[in-house]
Amino acid sequence: MKLKSIKQIKNLTGKKVLLRVDFNVPLTGGKNPKVAEDMRITESLPTLKYLLNKKAILILVSSLGRPNGVRVPELSIKPVAKKLEQLLGKKVLITPDCISDETKKIIDSLKPGEIVMMENAEYHSEEKNNDVKFSKRLASFADIYINEAFAKSHRAYATMVGVPKFLPSYAGFLLEKEIKELSHVFNHPKRPFVALIGGVKISTKLGVIKNLLKIADDVMIGGALANTVLKAKGISVGRSIVEEDMVKALRKLKLTDTHLHIPVDVIVSDKMTKNAKAKVKAAGNIAKNEYALDIGPDTLKLYDCIIRESRTIIWNGPMGMFENPKFASGTVGVIHAVVHSSAKIIIGGGETAEAIKSLKSFMHFERSNIYISTGGGAMLKFLEDKTLVALKPLIKK
Ligand code: 3PG
Repeated sequence: MKLKSIKQIKNLTGKKVLLRVDFNVPLTGGKNPKVAEDMRITESLPTLKYLLNKKAILILVSSLGRPNGVRVPELSIKPVAKKLEQLLGKKVLITPDCISDETKKIIDSLKPGEIVMMENAEYHSEEKNNDVKFSKRLASFADIYINEAFAKSHRAYATMVGVPKFLPSYAGFLLEKEIKELSHVFNHPKRPFVALIGGVKISTKLGVIKNLLKIADDVMIGGALANTVLKAKGISVGRSIVEEDMVKALRKLKLTDTHLHIPVDVIVSDKMTKNAKAKVKAAGNIAKNEYALDIGPDTLKLYDCIIRESRTIIWNGPMGMFENPKFASGTVGVIHAVVHSSAKIIIGGGETAEAIKSLKSFMHFERSNIYISTGGGAMLKFLEDKTLVALKPLIKK
């Protein structure tokens, strides 16, 4: 898939560019929030710097969290704009919202090479509703629209699919890079090609699992979502997190597929707290009062074997409740297997990236064969459908 690149734009000097970024980053610090992890911001810096060097006027728009159309003060974009200011070493103005006259006034006062960030787009319910008037108003502030928000490109929101109806539209460098890296798995991946899918909700991952079973050589399942799969196989999972309404849907899947691997053993406890006592149990032996909170050592051995043999690996979602060290060994073990592999490795999802980065310093894994995507849901949707709804207006004819 070829997207219209910003390199195609002839003259950017003094042009107002509405740049949709996904700076939906984790915050820390309660009442004085600060950006806890800035990968999504740093990954967009090449596009920002390119446009600023070309003397465009930059209007950034992003959402943060899920305010659901309400001005939730804790989800203000201010700490994000501050972080961006530090990273760019340049003043970043902030507008009070996305559409008011006050916002228009601020934008109109900008000079070439200057930058403003709009307040959280999802403070407006029109964003999620893909409201036409809202899109038109936003488009009226700019000459050009650029989508740099790969992680949001699976959403048919106003700033993703509405605005490009009214402006010449292009893909930013990060969006282009993400599509190129992920397309690799469809375009003759080196085999064995394997996928590792973890996390909590099978409902958000069933589509991609089905598709991966068609294109990959092996699919390994971990995390809380494995409990729902175990239950669908008729295995009792005690008090473990299960998506009951997915059990039926899973039974329609060929759960005996020899390329679909599910935990043979698990780490269980009767508590999820720090002082919980962890025990290894066969997947079929989980007691009524127990939660399965990580994959067990035998499962890890099996997954490690598959990972070490493979030449392309996709990984989305941790193998267990890794925030608690008692239930982190599955995720940490998989990280070890992955970083010792010379396969092409694509990792996605905020939690997976967080887990791998927390071990980065001692693992020295900074290697060109490992690609960490900024997308979670978007990465899964792309691997399921081979496209994303927001890419349509950007495709080169
Ligand atoms: C993400 O965090 O993956 C993106 O910002 C998309 O968020 P959403 O799935 O909550 O819309």
